[in-house]
Amino acid sequence: MRRKVIAGNWKMNNDLKETQNLISKLSAGLSNSEVNCDVIVCPPFTSLSEAYALLKDTKIKLGAQNMYFESSGAFTGEISAAMLKSVGCEYVILGHSERRNIFGESDELINSKIKKAITSGLKPIFCVGELLEEREAGIMEEVIKRQVKAGLEGVSSDDMSKLIIAYEPVWAIGTGKTASPDQAQEVHALIRNLIKEKYGAPVSEKIIIQYGGSVKPDNAKELLSQKDIDGALVGGACLKADSFIGIMQGA
Ligand code: PGA
Repeated sequence: MRRKVIAGNWKMNNDLKETQNLISKLSAGLSNSEVNCDVIVCPPFTSLSEAYALLKDTKIKLGAQNMYFESSGAFTGEISAAMLKSVGCEYVILGHSERRNIFGESDELINSKIKKAITSGLKPIFCVGELLEEREAGIMEEVIKRQVKAGLEGVSSDDMSKLIIAYEPVWAIGTGKTASPDQAQEVHALIRNLIKEKYGAPVSEKIIIQYGGSVKPDNAKELLSQKDIDGALVGGACLKADSFIGIMQGA
């Protein structure tokens, strides 16, 4: 039985004050709720340090939304894995579709980041997902296979226990269009099978595969009850404590 993992991707939202507000509402709300899952929040870089201080005595874990694969040096605007560790991050989202599609990140770049995160002691939340036109062109499987294969190139079987995969169909992100539980389950099973082919059943049965794309309190329970859906990566609905907690209650 895999324990569900619910992660909140704040994206480019919340300054310092808003961070303090949201985290205090979240921890207050959680102390009054029955929640039986692991919880991760991923604020923007500028809020990580403050978030860490506020989360220290809670069960909520901290993650970042991106990092660069080099250790240090002349990479203006970038953040290293060690920097994220130094402000208390345990997780880092890598390969998010907004990084792939707005900032042009390639499978190879994402793979370098995944390997660097792991060797630095950070757990990647590795995102994959097809565009609407790829689904409509009937190449969804091919795209998912390519992203999974390239992203995990050179990642050992032991290291797979340090990684979460998130399936996020790009057409469902921030659009209000959720994949149906069946549609999501189909791709989750495909991903688990790819992991099984490469690493064997013990690894594929343990790996956490989250679903992301317009997850809300009213659709979370059904999505999360699918056999191969082990959690959610939540964007919009994690910006309000009530709705984020409502999603956790569906886990
Ligand atoms: P959404 O975003 O929940 O707002 O669709 C999900 C994500 O991009 O991780």
